[in-house]
Amino acid sequence: MAVHVMDHPLIQHKVSVLRDVETTSKQFRELVSEIAMLMCYEATRDLPLTDKDVQTPLATAHTKVIAGKKLAFVPILRAGLGMVDGVLALVPNARVGHIGLYRDPETLMPVEYYCKLPADIDKREVIVVDPMLATGGSAIDAITQIKKRGPKDIKFMCLIAAPEGVEALTKAHPDVEIYIAALDDCLNDHGYIVPGLGDAGDRIFGTK
Ligand code: PRP
Ligand code: URA
Repeated sequence: MAVHVMDHPLIQHKVSVLRDVETTSKQFRELVSEIAMLMCYEATRDLPLTDKDVQTPLATAHTKVIAGKKLAFVPILRAGLGMVDGVLALVPNARVGHIGLYRDPETLMPVEYYCKLPADIDKREVIVVDPMLATGGSAIDAITQIKKRGPKDIKFMCLIAAPEGVEALTKAHPDVEIYIAALDDCLNDHGYIVPGLGDAGDRIFGTK
């Protein structure tokens, strides 16, 4: 399935500021939200439409609106929370599910601690959001959980990805389209993306 690396100048500029070690938590949070909003615009480009007649003050306009039950966003906690405001700014009626995962620092394997998804998720298209795709373990696990509830379609949106994570996610879930703001060089020995931006959760919430 397709991997989309965003090359829009606004996204590239904002990611560049995001990476900077001097960027404060406040700026970092604002940038994560803004980039998520810009990416969401692209990731929703293929949403299905249906015809609708709308009465204007002058005449009937033959228009299009989004078909069906529309969207659900699922942030992977914690850092995915930073992207929710941005995507909801574009799609305010979307439902929001939450999946809580953290990476075991030794094994780098995801540990699940929370999962609450919309009751009607099987009627929705789902966009999973997380700023970082490193080994891919968290995204793979989250998408496996969501698939058990039978949504119509799943996309994964992240800000920075390592090639290792893209390969692993594509292999585990070949049907999931991946949207990335920047594709980086590699992982280091601790599973961090290089050059990356450090620990996204810590930078969003100021916990380090
Ligand atoms: C980060 C990030 C992803 C995960 C990516 O979360 O937000 O969820 O790591 O790594 P992976 O692709 O190797 O699984 P982290 O585990 O640091 O938890 P946090 O969001 O609570 O800080
Ligand atoms: N999680 C992060 O927050 N940053 C990385 O570089 C890798 C995983």
